[in-house]
This record gives sequence, C-alpha cells and structure tokens, in this order.
Amino acid sequence: MTTELLDALNSPDSAIIRAAELLRSGEVVGFPTETVYGLGACIFNETAVRKIYEAKGRPQDNPLIAHIASIEDAKRIAVNIPDEFYRLADAFFPGALTVILRKRKQVPSIVSAGLDTIAVRMPAHEIALRIIAEAGEPLVAPSANRSGKPSPTSAQHVFDDLNGRIAAIVDGGKCRVGIESTIIDILGDIPVIVRPGSITGENIEQILGKKVIIHSAGESPVPIAPGMKYRHYAPQAIVKLKKSWEEISEEIDKNPNYKRMILTTEEAPAKLKDIVFSLSTETIYAEFRRADAESFQEILILCSDTVQTNTALMNRIAKAASGT
Ligand code: TXA
Ligand code: MG
Repeated sequence: MTTELLDALNSPDSAIIRAAELLRSGEVVGFPTETVYGLGACIFNETAVRKIYEAKGRPQDNPLIAHIASIEDAKRIAVNIPDEFYRLADAFFPGALTVILRKRKQVPSIVSAGLDTIAVRMPAHEIALRIIAEAGEPLVAPSANRSGKPSPTSAQHVFDDLNGRIAAIVDGGKCRVGIESTIIDILGDIPVIVRPGSITGENIEQILGKKVIIHSAGESPVPIAPGMKYRHYAPQAIVKLKKSWEEISEEIDKNPNYKRMILTTEEAPAKLKDIVFSLSTETIYAEFRRADAESFQEILILCSDTVQTNTALMNRIAKAASGT
C-alpha cells in the first residue's frame, strides 16, 4: 500500500478532509496529538480497528485509547460516567489525560481487548480535534510506532515505522509534550494513575480533592494498564543511569572508545560537549531513535535531583534502561 503524506502544516483543510475520508472508509491514518503521534481508526468499525493491531504488530490483548472531540463523544462510548470524570474533563480536557470509564456494549470488544472499560482522552491538538470531528465518531489511537519502538513525536518517525503499512500520515509538525498521556482509573474508591504523564498526581488531587495513588508494580490494589506488562522499548545501546558527572567520567574511563551519548538537563563539562544532548520529555524518544539509527553503544543518563522528581520522565528512562 502507498502511504499518503498529508501536509497539515501548509494545507490543513485538505489534509483534514482527506484523513477523515480515509478513516470513514475504514482505513487507518497516523495523526499528530500534543503528546505523541497516534494511529487512528473509527471506533465503531471493527475491521478498521483490527488493521491498527496488524500495522503496529501489537498484541491483541493490549487495549486502545478512544480519542474524542467533545464530551458528547464520551457519552457515545461510555456508560455510568462518574462525576469525577466531568471534574477532570473541566480541568484538563483537551489535554494529556486519559480517563478509564465503563464501556458501552456497542463499542466493539477488540477496542478494549475484551475489558468492560474504555480509556478516553481529548487531545489538545487542533488538527487532531478537527480530524475526529470530521470523521464523525471517536477515533481509537495507540501511539503510531511499530510495537517495540519508541513512540513517534514527528511525522518522519511514523513514516520510518509504518510507511507502506497504513493509508496515510498527517504531518502536523513535532509533538509539544513528547511523552504519552497520564492514564487514570477513577472507577475504584481510590483513583489510580496507571501510567504517569505530564499531568501529575498532585494536579489531579487538587481537582478531585482526594488522594491519588501512582501505580508501581506490586503496590496497587487494581490491575496496571494492560499494555504496561509488555516488554517495552529499549535502545540497542546499553542505557545506564548515573547520579553525577564523576560517575559519568568513571563509566567513560571503563570503555573510552565507545560510541556514546550523554543525556542531561545540566550544563556539561567542556570536554564532553560533543557527546552531550539535552534530556527532556519533549526530546527523549527522538534521541532514543537517533541512538538506534546511528548505532550508539552506550547512553548515559544523568539523573539529577530535578530529573528524579519528574515521575513521568523517570518512568520512561527506567523502562528504556531495563526494557521491561
Ligand atoms: O498520549 C497518548 O495517550 C497516546 C496518544 C496517541 O494519544 N496514545 C497512547 O496509546 O499512548 P498506547 O496504545 O500506546 O497506550 C495505551 C495504554 C496502554 O498501556 C493500554 O494498556 C492502556 O493505555 N489502556 C487502554 N485501555 C485501557 C483500559 N480500559 N484499562 C486500563 N488501561 C488501558
Ligand atoms: Mg504505545
């Protein structure tokens, strides 16, 4: 299949209309959101949803997130919506927050991998919202990478992974946030963050007025997001977390000739400038992709105190380091 490239930066109207036309006809389309690029299909079209799993090589027991353009859309796919949802939506929608709700039975079960719940989010991205509205129904969209690769934060990343496997890619430039949305389960007594993101536990506690738990393996009373059980992307390079420049120097001395990259939020010592790159949620996946493309042997990440307080960023770094 030839993958159409739709330039929403220069011709947004025609890109949006073409993307929606393809989606309505049952195709899957890569599109930008503020977090990462998504691979969309119309939620009520089971055949189209199946194509997402095929294109990504995604295990079928890993449920998808429904992307909505209005609160009315949420009511089309969820039932018995708790009041907490509306409070979170008022505060954070559109934005990088996904909320788990009870699924309407009309939504094909492949969407949520047989669960009776449905993950719902309204992306804070004009092009995404217009595509969803034009498609006429919510779009399910996992991140638009091949399974096992980092999430894509540019149209080029989507092209690198999925060219020839999907009908089209809408280019809306680089993603502003750079890591996937926060996922929160509000169906139990205690709200549980099952995937940390740029909207934090404290942000959510302020709105709900009650304690929120951040899931970490073995700690939570509810199941983790099913997708978290899969082995996650790990770069081909060895990833090592270091606490100081001294530790980094020691590591370099062990294998001085390695092709390596250092990621840090800090000013680097002059002699290391050539191999130091900026560590941020916005750029981390792009750096991992580059490390693979350029066959780096080692990635040293300086986990300063500031980095360690960023739960979402640390979560992605730890996954890359352990590949679990
Ligand atoms: O920022 C994002 O959320 C991006 C953009 C494209 O919106 N999407 C994304 O989708 O990251 P994906 O498929 O890569 O990750 C979805 C995660 C998986 O870990 C999955 O297990 C979890 O959401 N999930 C989906 N439905 C769920 C449900 N009903 N209950 C618990 N976890 C669910
Ligand atoms: Mg993903």
